[in-house]
Amino acid sequence: MTMLLAITGGSDGWAPERWRERLRQHLPEMDFVIAGVDDFDPAAIRYAAVWKPTKGYLATLPRLSLIFNLGAGVDAVMADPTLPDVPLVRVATDDLTNRMSEYVLLHVLMAHRRQAPLASAQKRRQWDGRLQWAAKDLRVGVMGLGVIGTDAVHKLAMVGFNVAGWSRTPRSVPGIACFDGAAGLDDFLARSDVLVVLLPLTAQTRGIVDRVLLRKLPHDGPLGAPVLINAGRGGLQIEDDILAALDDGTLGQATLDVFNTEPLPSDHPLWSHPRVTITPHNAADSDAEAIAAYIAAQIRSHECGAALANVVDRTRGY
Ligand code: NAP
Ligand code: GLV
Repeated sequence: MTMLLAITGGSDGWAPERWRERLRQHLPEMDFVIAGVDDFDPAAIRYAAVWKPTKGYLATLPRLSLIFNLGAGVDAVMADPTLPDVPLVRVATDDLTNRMSEYVLLHVLMAHRRQAPLASAQKRRQWDGRLQWAAKDLRVGVMGLGVIGTDAVHKLAMVGFNVAGWSRTPRSVPGIACFDGAAGLDDFLARSDVLVVLLPLTAQTRGIVDRVLLRKLPHDGPLGAPVLINAGRGGLQIEDDILAALDDGTLGQATLDVFNTEPLPSDHPLWSHPRVTITPHNAADSDAEAIAAYIAAQIRSHECGAALANVVDRTRGY
């Protein structure tokens, strides 16, 4: 059995050679070939492990039966119009989920406890003991109640925030106000002092965070102006609209982990905006060892006839 590694981008730890080494430890009987490096017979490939593969490449493998995406978001794979019609499995590991929730908690707490104005007051040597409020007084809305969103809303609620979630189909999460679909969006937004975006990028969600949506966020919460946190995908947001919303007071601050162009170009105005926090798409720096173990476990159970977990629904796009 042969697995193709078609991996572009990522840190040094994401290099295809490193993936070959770590997958070999879990699947010693498997042969691994690297796209663009090794010579191989395309008909020998049964499995592929991919991250941002070149469009059209997977369609050249006539006996491909299973694709593993090395991340949670499959938008880069789904963007290939020639993607073979075989199961596409995405990453959903506790490690990745926990790291994403850490990011959400960190940045919601930073907004809640006014860490940015306190840090700038410190630079001015100013003792700025402004009023605090209780976590229950801050309404946090999470767009996306999937694997990551559900974990994040639980943890936000444990801190005491007044939490709501929004999904495509109706969801029920104890203790969380749940909204769904276009019909539920405005009511959800109207009670989101902090809006956390954890959606996948699909044809339906592309550009959803635009000026129209931002104007529906409330201004009667303790922060005064609403806060945006996007750790989903850059394609979900219209960056010019975010900048305009920050400048005209529609938005108080934004924390962005993901961008339409990554890395964010050094001359992009988001870098220098005083009320923007930028992180380099590392809300969750996935543990490659955990993902390798996850892929190996899925292959072993699949070869014994068990159903695969976390298979992407190609019609939904996530
Ligand atoms: P998931 O389990 O597939 O959950 C997706 C959620 O989004 C579901 O609740 C789904 O609704 C909702 N949704 C999808 N389309 C929608 C629409 N049109 N309207 C309303 N809700 C919609 O995904 P996940 O594992 O939680 O991951 C979410 C995303 O996080 C990934 O796709 C990826 O882009 C991003 N991510 C980013 C990083 C990072 O480092 N920044 C790391 C990991 C993941 P239903 O519940 O009704 O299906
Ligand atoms: C990272 O962005 C992922 O989708 O896992």
